[in-house]
Amino acid sequence: MSFEGQVVFITGGAKGLGKEMARAFLEEGAFVAVNDISDGAVDGFLKEFEGREAVALKGDVVNYEDVERVVQSIIDKWGRIDILINNAGIVNPLVPAEKIKKQDFDRVIDVNLKGAFYVTQAVGKKMIEKNRGRIVNIASQAGLFGEKGFLPYAISKSSLMLMTRVLAYEWSKYGITVCAIAPGFIAGGMNEPILKKKDLVEYLSKRTPIGRMLTVEEYINTIMFLASDKASYINGETIIMDGGMTGYIDMPLVDVIMKGR
Ligand SMILES: NC(=O)c1ccc[n+]([C@@H]2O[C@H](COP(=O)([O-])OP(=O)(O)OC[C@H]3O[C@@H](n4cnc5c(N)ncnc54)[C@H](O)[C@@H]3O)[C@@H](O)[C@H]2O)c1
Repeated sequence: MSFEGQVVFITGGAKGLGKEMARAFLEEGAFVAVNDISDGAVDGFLKEFEGREAVALKGDVVNYEDVERVVQSIIDKWGRIDILINNAGIVNPLVPAEKIKKQDFDRVIDVNLKGAFYVTQAVGKKMIEKNRGRIVNIASQAGLFGEKGFLPYAISKSSLMLMTRVLAYEWSKYGITVCAIAPGFIAGGMNEPILKKKDLVEYLSKRTPIGRMLTVEEYINTIMFLASDKASYINGETIIMDGGMTGYIDMPLVDVIMKGR
């Protein structure tokens, strides 16, 4: 899938899955910009991709001034942004709803939802001027069903899916498509620590009809497809990429009905 000469902006893209997306887009000929709240990650990215068509800028997606500065820097360098991937995201401490601290609740909503909107608005204005753009929001399967302990994260991601629909409706007339992806458990990024725990990997694999975690390559292929012209008629859609996990019930009724017959 060629992205020759296209300008891609990936939020929170200096490490984790965002960095792998950056690598994949660069390999397909894109110019890639990432921002990140982590100084260390930004420095690491710049070192790793030195000499490539890639920039990494320090910035918090929750801070509107940071967002405007980062977007303007990309425009100053390359003149436009063709593709935006709203990837920056955090998970709340996994505790029952009655124990979630206000600051943890607020921060997850701020980064995953409000930050994604701030960036989308700032980039969207530039895309509207060019009458062209592709936006891919990184949601999660957690936004589709009630998983204990994930309340703020689940709300933020499910709202992101709705934001995807509303923006697709509003911005189609400007040549912009807005889609989302709701992945299950990916073998990378924030799950790196999980990968070292064999029992956890086995549990997650068993809970997934496909029987394993989602690979980084499978995940990025779908994002690139949504960002490409091959997906030009897909708009407002969330691709659920969870190996079937949210589509079934672990205790089938038929087993109970048939028991003893
Ligand atoms: N890993 C998975 O299995 C999985 C599953 C579903 C969804 N996701 C989503 O994918 C995205 C990336 O996750 P990951 O696994 O690469 O996580 P990660 O923690 O490895 O990377 C997240 C990146 O976002 C940056 N970031 C955090 N807050 C920020 C802010 N306020 N402003 C700018 N940058 C910020 C971090 O510094 C980091 O570089 C997230 O939105 C996450 O919710 C991941």
